[in-house]
Amino acid sequence: MARNPRYDVLFEPVRIGPVTARNRFYAVPHAAGMTNAMPHMRARFRETKAEGGWGVVCTGYVSIDPTADDAPLPYATLWDDDDIRSHALMTEAVHRHGALAGIELWHGGGSVMNRLSRLPPLSPSGTSWMATHVNFMGNQRPKAMDAEDIRALLAMQAAAARRARSAGFDIVYVYAGMGYLPYEFLLPEWNLRTDAYGGSVANRVRLVRELLEVTREAVGTTCAVALRLSLEELRARPSERAPSEAHEVVALLSDTVDLWDVKLDSSPTDCAPSRFAPEGSHEKVIDFVKSLTPKPVVGVGRFTSPDAMVGQIRRGVLDLIGAARPSIADPFLPRKIDEGREGDIRECIGCNICISSWHDSVPVRCTQNPTIGEEWRRDWHPERIAPAGSTASVLVVGAGPAGLECALALGQRGYEVTVAEAGDDIGGRLRFETRLPGLSAWGRVLDWRRAQLQRLVNVNVYRGNRLTADDILGLGHTHVVIATGAHWARLLYSPLEIPVGELEGSGVFTPDDVAAGARLESPVVVYDFDNYYMGSALAEQLAQSGHVVSYVTPAGHASAWTIMSNEQPQVHRALFTAGIGLHTLSRVTAFARGEVTLANQFTGAETRLECAALLIVGTRFADDALYAALAPRAGELAGAGIRSLTRIGDALAPGAIVHAVYSGHRYARELDADAAALAYRRDAPLPRLA
Ligand SMILES: Cc1cc2nc3c(=O)[nH]c(=O)nc-3n(C[C@H](O)[C@H](O)[C@H](O)COP(=O)(O)O)c2cc1C
Ligand code: SF4
Repeated sequence: MARNPRYDVLFEPVRIGPVTARNRFYAVPHAAGMTNAMPHMRARFRETKAEGGWGVVCTGYVSIDPTADDAPLPYATLWDDDDIRSHALMTEAVHRHGALAGIELWHGGGSVMNRLSRLPPLSPSGTSWMATHVNFMGNQRPKAMDAEDIRALLAMQAAAARRARSAGFDIVYVYAGMGYLPYEFLLPEWNLRTDAYGGSVANRVRLVRELLEVTREAVGTTCAVALRLSLEELRARPSERAPSEAHEVVALLSDTVDLWDVKLDSSPTDCAPSRFAPEGSHEKVIDFVKSLTPKPVVGVGRFTSPDAMVGQIRRGVLDLIGAARPSIADPFLPRKIDEGREGDIRECIGCNICISSWHDSVPVRCTQNPTIGEEWRRDWHPERIAPAGSTASVLVVGAGPAGLECALALGQRGYEVTVAEAGDDIGGRLRFETRLPGLSAWGRVLDWRRAQLQRLVNVNVYRGNRLTADDILGLGHTHVVIATGAHWARLLYSPLEIPVGELEGSGVFTPDDVAAGARLESPVVVYDFDNYYMGSALAEQLAQSGHVVSYVTPAGHASAWTIMSNEQPQVHRALFTAGIGLHTLSRVTAFARGEVTLANQFTGAETRLECAALLIVGTRFADDALYAALAPRAGELAGAGIRSLTRIGDALAPGAIVHAVYSGHRYARELDADAAALAYRRDAPLPRLA
């Protein structure tokens, strides 16, 4: 198909200092969770984006010195010449596909704990980030940098920039964002200095300017010099000389950079979840930058719509369309627009499972794209899949996230696939969950698969088709895949933090009951020890529909796990705004006569809350009755020609949607594969030269 001329502007080349990007698609710096310890995985991960058409593909944050040690979070290093080869794997791979390679040189300053290097962290004035996030809090305060430390920092940046050039990078960054060292110099809370680096904005900007200067000197005319800058705080600060301090900073640095990469200041606002922020949410902060600089500007905002991208260019907000998550969800996004296949884009849903993988210190995962992070170790390509290994036909029972992904990938391989869905439509849990407040974008998981499946003549989907074990034995398929999902239990929570003691009776509900249309009376108590989105989203929904709602959790925060997905600060704001009473560190121990009894998780002290309906959002168990009915009938299965019976997704092990999609995809990839192909390759650091 031909490209829609409306999108031609996105494919114009952009000059960035001495180099030229082939188009306006820019995969911004984002960590892949792979570190230098997994150099082949990392290189292939980034290569796939270059193959998918991104004009520029960047690394994640790359530490320039052991004084910037983010362990146990997964950061890359360019500490010495030995580190060069690991990055060169990426630049070579990215260049093979005609893209530029960018590297984000990083010093974490007072935000890191140097747990591994055990060197004192550095900061402008000894001020530390008293983070409440468990990943970032610590008991090591930073040293206030003296003049010698500043000289040493500039030398580190210069040395790292030279190595970056040797590794083959085209764009070399100074990173002044997100609470890291150069950013700390920009903000007066961090920077209390009285020397030439503190006080006025011109002084606070000095370190960033010097970092840019030494970088340019180091890379000469070979590479472009980029500045990644967080502008949210600075934009909120009035200035006597400009509309805000952000304006002042950009104006002061305009002559020193080849490229502006502008973003927000904290991960929850910068990498904002779709539950609370729409596409393009950065614009209100960064919209002024282009008016102050002739240099190209790249910015982000979970851009998946080519029309929104064109809007950014035409309205003079950005020159390059930056993307982290959209390039994870669909590494081939630019190619699809180029080929007039924008309908095929696997749009990011904004769930932030990807950023949770970074918090978990593991290679990146994605709800929409099960192949991400698996490009090298499992040889999974997001757009290519091996042809069927046999003429087998496959029955997939259940059309939730796992069943749909499984059927799609099997269908793409060329298998004859039948999907039997008991409900009146496909989607499984997504049908209800995407109607919860803020979760409509998650419907893209279903929409994309539905659209792709419609093109496959070898996949037949039957709705309203509840199969029994006997039915399945009579259908004549070669392989049977059980993807029948899971259900919520009415179990409570013990002091040992184990689900125990099922609570039955009227007035006790689970999310499945709400999904099925149960009417709850006020006041409602939502009791959440699932800790992800379901409890708080249901509480919000009930409050929006006029209920009096209290939210109770044994954890210290509402939706405690969502600290990993950047949602938690806004979950708390949403509960507060909706007037929902919040009771943390509390277990429900009883429910009778219109009240629940709560026990403090640590002291056991009891309190009571009025309650007409108790909604328990606790634990889920597999809906595997069909599997259990079939599995013991091995002889009959063999007699019916069924060679394998397999559970996938929640029916195997209930979890987040990302796990279900992955499970379905893995089954499809591995069907008829030889045993050796089933294990994944283990990556290893390159051996040191000396
Ligand atoms: C998994 C993940 C890792 C990230 N790591 C980095 C990083 O190493 N350096 C950085 O400057 N920003 C990092 N970010 C932030 C992104 O570069 C980007 O600013 C943010 O995700 C918003 O862009 P998006 O809406 O296109 O995702 C990361 C984001 C994600 C999702
Ligand atoms: S994990 Fe979610 S937010 Fe991250 S890229 Fe995938 S779909 Fe987008």
